[in-house]
Amino acid sequence: MKILFASSEALPYSSSGGLGDVLLSLPKEIKQYSQTDVRIILPLYRYTKERYIYSLEFIGATTVSLAWRNQYCGIYKTINNGITFYFIDNEYYFSRHMLYGEYDDGERFAFFSKAVIDVMSYLDFYPDILHANDWQTAASVIYLKTLYSHLDHYKYIKSVFTIHNFDYQGCFDNSTFHDLFGFSENSRNAICIGEKINLVKGAIEYADSVTTVSKTYAKEIKTFDYSGKLCGVINDNFYKISGVINGIDTDYYSSERDADITANYSSKDIAGKATNKRMLQGICNLPLRDDIPILCVISRLTEHKGIDLITSALDILLKKDLQIIILGTGDTKYENYLIEKSKEHSNQMCVNIKFDKVLSKKIYAGSDIFLMPSLREPCGLAQMIASRYGTVPVVRKTGGLADTINENCYEKNGFVFEQYNVKEMLSAIDRALTEYNNINEWNNLVRRVMDVDFSWEQSAKRYMDIYKKLL
Ligand code: GLC
Repeated sequence: MKILFASSEALPYSSSGGLGDVLLSLPKEIKQYSQTDVRIILPLYRYTKERYIYSLEFIGATTVSLAWRNQYCGIYKTINNGITFYFIDNEYYFSRHMLYGEYDDGERFAFFSKAVIDVMSYLDFYPDILHANDWQTAASVIYLKTLYSHLDHYKYIKSVFTIHNFDYQGCFDNSTFHDLFGFSENSRNAICIGEKINLVKGAIEYADSVTTVSKTYAKEIKTFDYSGKLCGVINDNFYKISGVINGIDTDYYSSERDADITANYSSKDIAGKATNKRMLQGICNLPLRDDIPILCVISRLTEHKGIDLITSALDILLKKDLQIIILGTGDTKYENYLIEKSKEHSNQMCVNIKFDKVLSKKIYAGSDIFLMPSLREPCGLAQMIASRYGTVPVVRKTGGLADTINENCYEKNGFVFEQYNVKEMLSAIDRALTEYNNINEWNNLVRRVMDVDFSWEQSAKRYMDIYKKLL
């Protein structure tokens, strides 16, 4: 079976969040199955070029037509863990400081999505499955089914579209329908909603199979609260939508082997965790105390991650004997508020406004409690990563958080609150703090949390079943 993943990010080449992690680990796991040829296609961002160009092989250039434009498309290649990575080069589109958030994101990812399809003929590589991810590559599914499906090699390709986060749907003005995206008129109803192009809607309509990243989120997006105007589209297409929980790369996130942390440790011997805690307190200029719990947040600082619950609860939290460490970037209102608070409470709170994988691992390893109070959470990887490092999650019961963390059962692996409000969140944190004060109970919990299986094995099998069914 030949599978081509199309994505706007994959670690280590590019990442702004969970999508990059998934594209690092899922293809690797799928590759374990014999007879699978797994390849990935990514944009060649400035970041990727600066760091990796010497390990990439230039294999040629072609042009990609996008409505009336004919754009240069260089193709680079490398093989990593047995997986072929292709990189689409066009400096005009991708030599930018950020992956997204540019005024012309629609055009940049329309170009990339078109390139995904066009380079198949250049490479003479026609996959059995095109697996596209999120709005940035949603158009590749649309192009495949609307503009290429009459062509010999293309007509047998099946498409899978994964929604990693329904909060980002790729909405653009209707006026770009022909002029920029170059879509065909008879696909207008499938792609547009109201006065807007909605690329995720188009991909849901055209994909042969649609997945999202947890069972609970798959159910949640059937409701208006989660999917808004796309509620009807989700329900009409539900027969082909399934929820497959993400795993994490247990080699990349391993307290036993991670070279980015100060001391390695395992669930059998967690002594090293205390060393990491001291180092972390040092890095964050916090008092070096073994006895005080560290609560950390590693997140995009956006509304749906529940950051307003955290800001509303900060004054109460800061009255407790607790150190708080926050890492992430996002909305300036949250960034500014958190920075201000950390200046006022610099002996208790440290805020790092950045995306930093190495620092994130030091925080996961050195903290005690990991807070993730999301309003919506398709899957969430951070709660699983924190667990691997023995940092006990406190989460809100939604999406993938509900599917991975349980409090009221024999296999308790964290603290869970249901309603989205400060009171419930604080009460869950208090339950964690009470348990923290009982050292034996806490250490047992830490060990148990570290041993939970969050690997990709089961989920990769489910993806393989989905691919096989389509073929
Ligand atoms: C997005 C979602 C997150 C999910 C990740 C990978 O970042 O917000 O919940 O874990 O994608 O699927």
